[in-house]
Amino acid sequence: MQIHISRDDPCKVKADGLVVTMTTSDALPRALRSLDEALDGQLSLYVDSGDFTGKSGQMVRFPASGIGAERVLLVGLGKDGEVTSETLRAAAGRAIRSLARSKGKLAAFIAPSTRRIKSEGVGQALAEGAILGTYTFERYKTGKTETPELDRLNILTADAKQVGGLRKGAKLGAVLAESTNLARDLSNEPGSVLTPEAMAKQARTMGRDTGLKVSIYGPKELEKHEMGGILAVGRGSANSPRLIIMEHGAPTRGARRRKRVALVGKGITFDTGGVSLKPGAAMDEMKHDMSGGGAVIGAMRAIALLKLPLHVIGIVAAAENAPDGNAYLPGDIVKTASGKTIEVLNTDAEGRIVLSDALHYAREQEPDAIIDLATLTGACVVALGDACCAVMGNDDKLVDKIQRAGDRAHERAWPMPLWSEHKKAVEGTVGDIKNTGGRAAGTLTAGAFLSNFVGDIPWAHLDIAGTAWTTRERPYNAKGATGFGVRLLLELLRSWK
Ligand code: BES
Ligand code: MN
Ligand code: ZN
Repeated sequence: MQIHISRDDPCKVKADGLVVTMTTSDALPRALRSLDEALDGQLSLYVDSGDFTGKSGQMVRFPASGIGAERVLLVGLGKDGEVTSETLRAAAGRAIRSLARSKGKLAAFIAPSTRRIKSEGVGQALAEGAILGTYTFERYKTGKTETPELDRLNILTADAKQVGGLRKGAKLGAVLAESTNLARDLSNEPGSVLTPEAMAKQARTMGRDTGLKVSIYGPKELEKHEMGGILAVGRGSANSPRLIIMEHGAPTRGARRRKRVALVGKGITFDTGGVSLKPGAAMDEMKHDMSGGGAVIGAMRAIALLKLPLHVIGIVAAAENAPDGNAYLPGDIVKTASGKTIEVLNTDAEGRIVLSDALHYAREQEPDAIIDLATLTGACVVALGDACCAVMGNDDKLVDKIQRAGDRAHERAWPMPLWSEHKKAVEGTVGDIKNTGGRAAGTLTAGAFLSNFVGDIPWAHLDIAGTAWTTRERPYNAKGATGFGVRLLLELLRSWK
């Protein structure tokens, strides 16, 4: 989508739709009076009649004459003092999507002026809402074009001082939203299309386009590096596993050492459960079980495009968990790259097994922090639902920073404990660590399992099982993958010290 910021007159601007936002505390604001006049009083009619109150989420559309735009979309922002960037993101998502659905190509949006959000934040939120809100995954619907037809957004402001901020914010928002949409595309793709090999190929293409160094470990390299965890999980599938490594900002000789962060993603391209087979209901959703890896690939794209002054290593453990004659079995002992052994009690707890090798690889890079994202446990969905992910780790400061970044991005993370009791629950009988700790505190014992592979490096684990996809449409999310984590990670890393 092309976004541009202008001082065009809302009465004259050409567009398929003109989006006008209002809060509940507004009578008709002064700034909209001339538009109201050009519309023969239609705006004040809606407000005075009470048909439009401005409450958050409310939207009315009407065809317009007397102005340059074909129609007007009145969108409510709720109480004046309570407008947040999420309010704007949702409003833009709703309005622009509504226009896109009626075959609009060009939208104009009067930038709301809120005292609480700077123009940069407004531009970012509107761009994110518009680009995330018009995302669809329709490449398998015959007769439909893949790219949304609404491909131009004109953000209007009367205030010359706002233009620079809006423009800067919109540029950032566009990169973040497009990177999120990449993560969504990967996640929405069927398992038999997005195999570990295909996922690696996508990472390679993205890396080539953005200037990242990308290395792929196939079965041979995985053997060589003794990554027995990834190999074991991938063994029952015809689609062999991969370790995907993407690198941004590696230090050049003589340069000062940059802060180094490792991002690790679970990339199970389909999770049947393996020999401990999952029940059939909703198993199709397990095509999304690589969403953590998808978020890491999306985040690496944004990190490269925004040229963050950091050394970031993105690592995705990609494998398909399937049962066949070669598949790993309950009772097996798996030797991981760290040298530690895992006692497999349930082949459906496969995410933590592939992550053991990826986290160990991350640790060996001696980063200042490791952050992993994984659709790790069904228990997390039960505990927290879809409004936030779980975050836990070995470093309270890091966990806290992630929670705050998540609040700002509105991809929220809620802290959970990782205590000695949880580590005890996954101590092995025959091997070092067992891969399930029973039904109790399933999210926490999974996190405790992972803690065995990061050593003393500050580490945080995000269980995104509840947030990686949605089964109902949301203001800027179609059904399916959300791309959750990309914007959170960038919010965190853009201010990393
Ligand atoms: N990918 C699943 C977790 C999951 C389930 C995510 C539902 C989102 C929705 C994971 O690999 C898994 O199967 N976990 C098991 C662990 C158990 C066997 C200890 C689970 O949560 O049931
Ligand atoms: Mn599983
Ligand atoms: Zn899984």
